[in-house]
Amino acid sequence: MSMDTTVFSGPLTTDRLVLRLFAEDDLNDMHAYQGLPEVARYLYRPPRDRARCAEVIERIGRGTHWKEDGDSLTLAVCRRDTPGVIGEVVVSLSSVHAAQAEIGWVFHPDHGGRGYATEAALALRDLAFQQLSVHRLFARLDADNTASARICERLSMRREAHLIESDRDGRGWGSEYVYAILAREAEPAGTD
Ligand SMILES: CC(C)(COP(=O)(O)OP(=O)(O)OC[C@H]1O[C@@H](n2cnc3c(N)ncnc32)[C@H](O)[C@@H]1OP(=O)(O)O)[C@@H](O)C(=O)NCCC(=O)NCCS
Repeated sequence: MSMDTTVFSGPLTTDRLVLRLFAEDDLNDMHAYQGLPEVARYLYRPPRDRARCAEVIERIGRGTHWKEDGDSLTLAVCRRDTPGVIGEVVVSLSSVHAAQAEIGWVFHPDHGGRGYATEAALALRDLAFQQLSVHRLFARLDADNTASARICERLSMRREAHLIESDRDGRGWGSEYVYAILAREAEPAGTD
């Protein structure tokens, strides 16, 4: 699993976490959270079974270019004090021309409520601005996903839109918030 032009050389280290590319050995850890209905609830797609997780790891583990619309970097998040992957953060290039990128996060609920998702998202926000030349970073989330909205606010993102019934899944229509921050507005959180 290597790509000579990957945009991420990693790993990225924060106070409590290490962010790195996924590897085949992370399959059980990824499935432990991506397979949970409660985790997929606001993702507008079903939980992932093991086979789907293996396919995803095969793709995202290679890293990515950062030069075409749709290029996407997903990083496995590990605690420095315990082995294993506790979640993931992702940044996707939505417009090369306008240097726009979308950020997202998915974590195992066993590791929730301790600020790990926020810490990882801050590190990825800073990477996006400092190394990927992103001008505007945005997040799009279900308006009922209050935990996710709180992460956006801790990242100093501004709520820019409330989209009414803008998406749909098996439960029906869902409304969304769009949060965003510009590169010049971000104070780096500080990573090693
Ligand atoms: C969204 C998601 C990552 C949020 O998880 P989370 O545990 O609330 O987020 P964090 O890990 O950043 O933890 C934040 C909480 O830890 C608390 N905390 C405890 N110790 C802390 C510490 N040392 N440092 C920082 N925060 C700490 C914070 O106060 C905060 O609590 P609050 O939200 O009640 O104010 C998680 O719910 C999830 O994975 N959901 C499913 C996937 C999903 O919906 N993804 C988003 C799609 S848009």
